[in-house]
Amino acid sequence: MGMVAEPKVGPPATATARAHPNLALVKYWGRRDPALNLPANGSISLNLSGAVTTTMVVFDRALVADIVVINGEPADDVAQQRVTAHLDRVRTLANLTERATVVSDNTFPTSAGVASSSSAFAALTRAAVAAAGLELSLRELSILARKGSGSAARSIPDGFVEWLPGHDDESSYAFSLAPCDYWDVHVITVAWPLGPKAVPSLAGHDAVSTSPFYEARLALLPRTLDRVREAIAQRDLGALGMVVEREAMSLHAVAMTSQPAARPWMSGVTYFAPETIRMIQAIQEWRERGLEVYFTLDAGPSVHLLCAACDVAQVVQAVRNSVDSESASILVSRAGRGAWLVNQTGGAAGPAGDQPPDATVN
Ligand code: DP6
Repeated sequence: MGMVAEPKVGPPATATARAHPNLALVKYWGRRDPALNLPANGSISLNLSGAVTTTMVVFDRALVADIVVINGEPADDVAQQRVTAHLDRVRTLANLTERATVVSDNTFPTSAGVASSSSAFAALTRAAVAAAGLELSLRELSILARKGSGSAARSIPDGFVEWLPGHDDESSYAFSLAPCDYWDVHVITVAWPLGPKAVPSLAGHDAVSTSPFYEARLALLPRTLDRVREAIAQRDLGALGMVVEREAMSLHAVAMTSQPAARPWMSGVTYFAPETIRMIQAIQEWRERGLEVYFTLDAGPSVHLLCAACDVAQVVQAVRNSVDSESASILVSRAGRGAWLVNQTGGAAGPAGDQPPDATVN
C-alpha cells in the first residue's frame, strides 16, 4: 500500500498581522477585574502611525510547544507564558490543539518610549485568529486582544478609539471614534534610554485603591471623557490639550500616592525622570511663547507631545534644542489604522489601504 497523504483539510495554518501601539489621551489606570482585564474606567486613544509591530503565527501539528521569537530573540519566560495563554484563548475558540510558532518584530526600539504590549497583543490576536481560520468581528477581536493586554483592545480599531469599561467580558471593548485621516494632530514621542522602570505598570494598576485620590480621579473621568470626545469631534487641539495634560497628571497623582504591594519601602510610585520634568517645563514655556503644543505621559518617563501637523517641524526642532540629542529618541506619529492582516492566506480581509508608517526615529 502506498503512502496516503494526510488530508489537507481545515483552515490555513498561517497568517501575519500588523498593529500600531496606541497612546491614551484618557488613561486606563486600575482594573476592576484582573483576570479579564476589565478596566475601572473608559479610555480614549489614538494609534501611533510611527511605530509598527509585525507578527506571524503558524499553527503546526509537528510542534510540541509554542515557539515565541520577539525581535529576533527567543522570548523570556514571562513573555512566552503570556503569548501561550493568549494562543490558548484562540485555540479554545477554534477548537484547535496545534502549537504555534510566533515571530514578532517591532519597527521601534524598546527604548522608544511607546508601550509595545498594545501593538504586540493586537497583532498577535489578528494573526492568530486568521491562522486559526476564525472570522471574528472587530468587537470580538478587541475583546480577545484585551485579555492579552488591556491597552491592546484599543489597537484593533482605526484611528481615534474609545474603550468602553463595560460590566462584563462582552461589554468591554474598543471602537473607532474617528478614522485615521479624520484629524492630522501629531504625536511626538520623546524618550530617554533610562532602563526598565522600578515599578511595572501592572503593579501600579493593582495599587490604585491605596491612593486617597483615586476616587476623585474616577469621579472626574466621565467629564474628562466627554471633553476629549467633544474636542476630537471638533478637531479642537486647544480644547483637547489642557484636558489631556491634566488627565495624565491625575494618573501620576494617583501613582505617587499609591502604595504598591510587595514594595513597603515605597511611599508612592514616581514614574518621572528629571528629563520628564524638564520637558514638561519646556513645553509650558513654548506655549507661553505662542507654540501650541501639549503633552501626555504614560506610566514611564517618556513624554508624548501633541501638536498640529503644521507645527511638527518647529516642535521637533524645539525638542532637539532642549534635550541631549545624543541619547534622546524622537518618534513622530499621527493617527494610524487599526490592526490589519498582511500576506494573508485565510480569514477575513483587513481594512483596505495600507498606510505607510509616517515615522522618524533618531
Ligand atoms: C499608563 O500597559 O500596564 O499606558 O495594557 O494591560 O498591558 P496592559 O497594561 P499597561 O496599561 C497601560 C497603562 C497606561 C495608560 C493607557 O494606556 O491607557
